[in-house]
Amino acid sequence: MELISKTIDLVKEKLDGAEAGHDWFHIERVWKLSLKIQEKEGGDKLIIELAALLHDIADPKFHNGDETLASKIVNDFLTEQNLDPDIREKVIFIIENMSFKNRNDAPENLPLELKIVQDADRLDAIGAIGIARTFNFGGYKNNLIYHPDISPKLNQTKEEYKKSNGTTINHFYEKLLLLKDLLNTDTAKRIAEPRHQFMLQFLEEFYNEWNVNL
Ligand code: ADP
Ligand code: NI
Repeated sequence: MELISKTIDLVKEKLDGAEAGHDWFHIERVWKLSLKIQEKEGGDKLIIELAALLHDIADPKFHNGDETLASKIVNDFLTEQNLDPDIREKVIFIIENMSFKNRNDAPENLPLELKIVQDADRLDAIGAIGIARTFNFGGYKNNLIYHPDISPKLNQTKEEYKKSNGTTINHFYEKLLLLKDLLNTDTAKRIAEPRHQFMLQFLEEFYNEWNVNL
C-alpha cells in the first residue's frame, strides 16, 4: 500500500543514525509483531500499522525532552497524505499515550489498537533483543553496566526515571522485568513468557560470573 511505503520512507529518513536500540530495525520488529498480535486479537489494521511505524519517530529522550515534536511530525505527514482526520487522530492518540514512562498519566479504557502496539513495543524491550538494546542504550549514555552498591529504584516518578543514570543491570528491575505483567493481550503474554525467563537466566549467570571465586 502506497501510504505504508511512504510512511516507511519517512521513518527510515528520520531515524537515520539513531541509537541502535531505537533505529529502523526496532520499528520494523514492532511493526511485524503488532501485525502478528493483530491477526489473533483483531483491531483496525491500518491504525495499528501507522502507529507502530510512527511510534518512535521523535522520541523526547533523543530530542532534548521535546514531548510535542513527534505529534507534530506525524500530524503534518498524515495531513499531507490526506488521511481521514479520524484515523489520523487515533494514530496520534496512540503515539502520545503508549510510552512506559507515561504509563501513570495514560487515560483509562485504552483502545485495542494502542494496547497491541504497546504490547509489541514492550515485547521488543525484553528477551535477548531487549538485553541487547538495553546494554546498547546504557553504553550510549555511558552508564555503568553494574555496581554492587547501587540498588534499583522502584516506583520512580516520570522525572526521576528520565533523569536516572543508574546502572544497566538496575534497568532490568526498574523496567524490563516489570513488563510481563503490564502486557494487555493474551497473545503478547504468551510471547513474553520465554523472553522473561531468558532475562532471569541471564541475570543469574551475570551474578555468578561477577561473584566468581577463583
Ligand atoms: P518508552 O520509550 O516506552 O517510554 P523507555 O524510553 O524507558 O521506554 O525505554 C526504551 C528502551 O530504551 C528500553 O526498553 C531500554 O532498552 C532502553 N532504556 C531506556 N532507559 C534505559 C536505561 N536507563 N538504561 C538502559 N536502557 C534503557
Ligand atoms: Ni519503541
